[in-house]
Amino acid sequence: MGSVAVEPAQASALDRDVACRVRGLTVTYKVDNRELSALRDVDLDIRQGQITAVIGESGSGKSTLALALMNAVSKPGRIAAGKVTYRDLGEVTAMDSERLRRARGRSLSMVFQASQNSLNPLTRVGAQLLDLARSHDMRDPRAVLREAAALAERMSLDADRVLTSYQHQLSGGMRQRVGIIFGLVLKPQVLLLDEPTTALDVLSQSSVLEIVRSIQRERQLTTVLITHDMGVVAELADRVVVLYAGRVVEEAPTTELIRHPRHPYTRALIQAIPRLTGDPSLARPLEGQPPSLAAIPTTGCVFRGRCPHRMEVCETSTPGISQVSDTDHRYACHWEGAAND
Ligand SMILES: Nc1ncnc2c1ncn2[C@@H]1O[C@H](COP(=O)(O)OP(=O)(O)OP(=O)(O)O)[C@@H](O)[C@H]1O
Ligand SMILES: [Mg+2]
Repeated sequence: MGSVAVEPAQASALDRDVACRVRGLTVTYKVDNRELSALRDVDLDIRQGQITAVIGESGSGKSTLALALMNAVSKPGRIAAGKVTYRDLGEVTAMDSERLRRARGRSLSMVFQASQNSLNPLTRVGAQLLDLARSHDMRDPRAVLREAAALAERMSLDADRVLTSYQHQLSGGMRQRVGIIFGLVLKPQVLLLDEPTTALDVLSQSSVLEIVRSIQRERQLTTVLITHDMGVVAELADRVVVLYAGRVVEEAPTTELIRHPRHPYTRALIQAIPRLTGDPSLARPLEGQPPSLAAIPTTGCVFRGRCPHRMEVCETSTPGISQVSDTDHRYACHWEGAAND
């Protein structure tokens, strides 16, 4: 397959193991004439060839982050500050629309949240795949169909039936798998999956995630997996980024994060899942709700409203990033207990 041209001047000098670097990313939505931040000052390194999970409750900014990673935030939203730079593509936040079009769906591929509703209802799945191949100037569009058929079989779908079907002839779960096939079929370098299995029952969910995992390993595919499900994270992800009210509050390798969570929010997310703590009697859900966009504090810690360790400083000062020494485990919290696992 061909590749999107990268002018040397735009090739970035990222470390070998970093596929994508996010710096100072702030995304705002205009609501009632006010610019409200859905993501605030996000710094992130997405590792090459790994699965990075982004976890957080509803409204924490996960889908906004996925869109920003493709420079695809649309009105009333905008990227108000910051840069997103890929090792192989350069800075997507500085690309013109034609370069972005070529990159999206090809080098950078996204399976949207509720992707079971994103097929064109008037065109058969196979024809949509051919359109996708042609829109990216694939030399052999039929090869794309063959690849899609192979992926469909792996996902326990009848390939002939799926390729000749219209959207309404497929169940929600089948459509979601077809969404993942669209995401994989052009062999992207980076795959963004936004809640890819919410329409699937638990058994199909784990089999589809297993397949995504095995394809990811075969292709060394850099994958960002967005989910609100810590169980999915534990099974699949190499690293985890925890978002709360638009801020990264913790980031670590998965095993480290689950065994030694630092931030009170991460601790609460893990404690809510008995099979991760090993002791069902200790399971307790996190009380309260995350703040709406307009209610997110602009100074101090965004989690303080629900934090059991809240202190005065949390009202006035935004916690900086602390790094657990000799690890790539980072967290943002004033509480001295966060330093002890
Ligand atoms: N088009 C929009 N206009 C105004 N506010 C928006 C818009 N899209 C998202 N938001 C707000 O931005 C915040 C982050 O939304 P986002 O969809 O990124 O969250 P999420 O973590 O993906 O949530 P979910 O788990 O429900 O999918 C939320 O407060 C949401 O209400
Ligand atoms: Mg979302």
